[in-house]
Amino acid sequence: MDVYQNFIDGKFINSESGKTFASINPSNGKILGYFQESNKKDLDNAVKSAWKGFKIWSNIPAPKRGEILFNVSRLLKENKERLSKLVTTEMGKVISEAQGDVQEAIDVFEYMAGEGRRLFGTTTPSELRNKFCMTIRRPLGVTALITPWNFPIAIPAWKISASLICGNSIILKPSSDTPLCAVELIKILDEAGIPEGVVNLITGKGEEIGNEIIKEKNISCISFTGSREVGEHILKNSSVYKIGLEMGGKNPIIIMDDANLDLAVDGVIWGGFGTTGQRCTAASRVIVHKDVKKEFEEMLLKKTKKLKIGDGLKEDSNIGPLIAERSIHKIDFYVSSGKKEGAQLLCGGKRAKMDGFFYEPTIFTNVKKEMRIAKEEIFGPFISIITCKDINEAIAISNSVDYGLSSSIYTENIRNSFLAIEKIEAGLTYINSSTIGSEVHLPFGGVKSTGNGIREGGQLGIDEFSEIKTVYIDYSNKLQRAQIDNVTIK
Ligand code: UN1
Repeated sequence: MDVYQNFIDGKFINSESGKTFASINPSNGKILGYFQESNKKDLDNAVKSAWKGFKIWSNIPAPKRGEILFNVSRLLKENKERLSKLVTTEMGKVISEAQGDVQEAIDVFEYMAGEGRRLFGTTTPSELRNKFCMTIRRPLGVTALITPWNFPIAIPAWKISASLICGNSIILKPSSDTPLCAVELIKILDEAGIPEGVVNLITGKGEEIGNEIIKEKNISCISFTGSREVGEHILKNSSVYKIGLEMGGKNPIIIMDDANLDLAVDGVIWGGFGTTGQRCTAASRVIVHKDVKKEFEEMLLKKTKKLKIGDGLKEDSNIGPLIAERSIHKIDFYVSSGKKEGAQLLCGGKRAKMDGFFYEPTIFTNVKKEMRIAKEEIFGPFISIITCKDINEAIAISNSVDYGLSSSIYTENIRNSFLAIEKIEAGLTYINSSTIGSEVHLPFGGVKSTGNGIREGGQLGIDEFSEIKTVYIDYSNKLQRAQIDNVTIK
């Protein structure tokens, strides 16, 4: 069985711990390989290497860094089929979605490569004569990227591409459920020509090496995507200068009485059961108008029953496995919680009778907004249907949770659409489209407990990994005092 290594200072090497852990295929439980269980010493080596890499990389002009990022995009494209199969094998999502995962990485490296010729600051007039004002961007230094398993190529790629184009170096700590995807991504970064030390990989468990990263003083930034519990733990326990957090959602789809119901049903299935419901942006609440509830539920059930659960590598599978056995227990817990609190189970509610971590698509109806299944992130193929009487109530229910990542409304009415755009407390609102599927050149991120004000993707994605310096250039050849030596207009 293959043993995979950390990547530090341009070399694949073993952990100082001498220990490894396994990554498994969630479709059948087979071991895919062994990975380094990194410790504090490995982190120290990675930090040292990353500061060395930073000196070289930050000194390369951004458009030239961009050229290397273009190489990454091209290499990802060349390896798309192989990497997509790997994503399905290690993470479980069905192959078409795995191709989407890799495509998102191709896109974001291409986009961020182009950013190398922008990285815009601003210029603005001074209040004084013969004085010039502008802002420029500077890199942060060493950035630690802690990434989840649900987009094992795309999410590391969002963070790596944005951080690199700004001139930072990187320590990637991928989820211990998908370390093989990370190793393969690192190989491509290396092949693309990134200098030694700029990109480092340390694998291991969050409770161990993740915690060491959080305590590390000699890094400049932590960018984390994952659970709220871990995100809050980072915020409480880390003194790192800049922290970016993306922590999940409880994303609603509102279906109004004037909605195109066929379209809405497709959107609910795609948002609720796509990626087996394991997206931060998954549609986990459906808020449906009372006048169309019955019809919508019948249509939804009919289509849900046709979904095929199975190994994601098989072209006819619609729903792949959950990531691990622990997810089965979590969903079982919420099924009993839903029943106990008085919601009605329409379908699913149990593990599928096959090898691997498969779960039947589960729908509860007559859910009340106070129930746990309406408030907590479940991260599985699990939809809670809540009834509303009008748009105002629909929006109030949407906003009744702590999270605020994605949201959606199905309506043919322009007023309902604009009320949703204006009033829903979320980082993303989709009109007549599901809650998932953001594009890399637009900002991605949430409000309330979902995040801490950071956005990824697009030009705002650059803000997370750079900081602004304000520059004043006085060419008057005399002391000019702002606010005091004001120019008087005669
Ligand atoms: C996530 O679930 O953590 O918008 C990210 C989407 C994807 C990214 C999801 N592009 O659903």
